Amino acid sequence: QRIGVIMGGTSAEREVSLRTGAAIVKALEECGYTVVAIDADKTLPAQLIEKQIDVVFLAVHGRFGEDGTIQGMLELMQIPYTGSGVLASALAIDKAVTKRMVAQDGVTTPAATLVDVNSDVDDIVAQCGHFPQVVKPVREGSTLGIAIANNADELKQAIAQARDYDRRVLVEDYIDGREVTVSVMNGRALSIIEIVPESGFYDYTAKYTVGKTRYLVPAPLPESQYKAIQQAAVASYASLGCRGAARVDFMVTDDNFYFLEVNTIPGMTETSLLPKAAADCGMDFAKLVEGILDDASL
Ligand code: DAL
Ligand code: MG
Repeated sequence: QRIGVIMGGTSAEREVSLRTGAAIVKALEECGYTVVAIDADKTLPAQLIEKQIDVVFLAVHGRFGEDGTIQGMLELMQIPYTGSGVLASALAIDKAVTKRMVAQDGVTTPAATLVDVNSDVDDIVAQCGHFPQVVKPVREGSTLGIAIANNADELKQAIAQARDYDRRVLVEDYIDGREVTVSVMNGRALSIIEIVPESGFYDYTAKYTVGKTRYLVPAPLPESQYKAIQQAAVASYASLGCRGAARVDFMVTDDNFYFLEVNTIPGMTETSLLPKAAADCGMDFAKLVEGILDDASL
């Protein structure tokens, strides 16, 4: 069996994906698999045929990879692949649609306004009753294009900046709380991780620089809240119809917690969260990678 690890691509998270991909290739090789690293560019279908790939391990983050596009191509080519299918991937990449889906299933998520291509930004800024607000491109990862706006001027500027990443932008109530993440593997929640960035904001630098963030595993939360957040993570994963491994992010306050998003191809870099959660559950990196691969399907 020849395993193709697809990585890279053209999204803003390309560099992260290359690191995720390299870690996966190394782990699979060490387990004795025949592995081929594949760049997710325009020649992807030709590469898959030429290199006689039997099964694909997806390591592409962001658009054109985590969003259902490559999954659709693999369906067409009848090559089994890891993780979520076309629909779940397309839903999860879109934070606006995702929030609606999980809210319908009873998971609480911060109130938000969608800034669409035809929206009147001045009007949205003028109508914004309270600050801070978090401004995010609808389809982006690794905190790229995200800013916290403390007033109307900052909001306008943040919307313009986020629009460089995606033509649709979400303006979301800022939750003053602790950030946690729940990895879900084949429908079951792993240990919750609390994220404590040195800078106070878990941005790209805090995510991918060793030593910039402290990770508390398992997150020190009251037991009832811990269980409720795990349940909400599994419910969110199920709402979208996810498969394999995914990671669900939340903000936690003393008496509540708020869903932020689902990542259907979670990072597997040196500082990434899914491997830490798996390790806390007794699954080393190789076991995690093999577990994801075993679940590959069409
Ligand atoms: N979007 C990054 C890769 C993550 O969720 O881990
Ligand atoms: Mg994300």
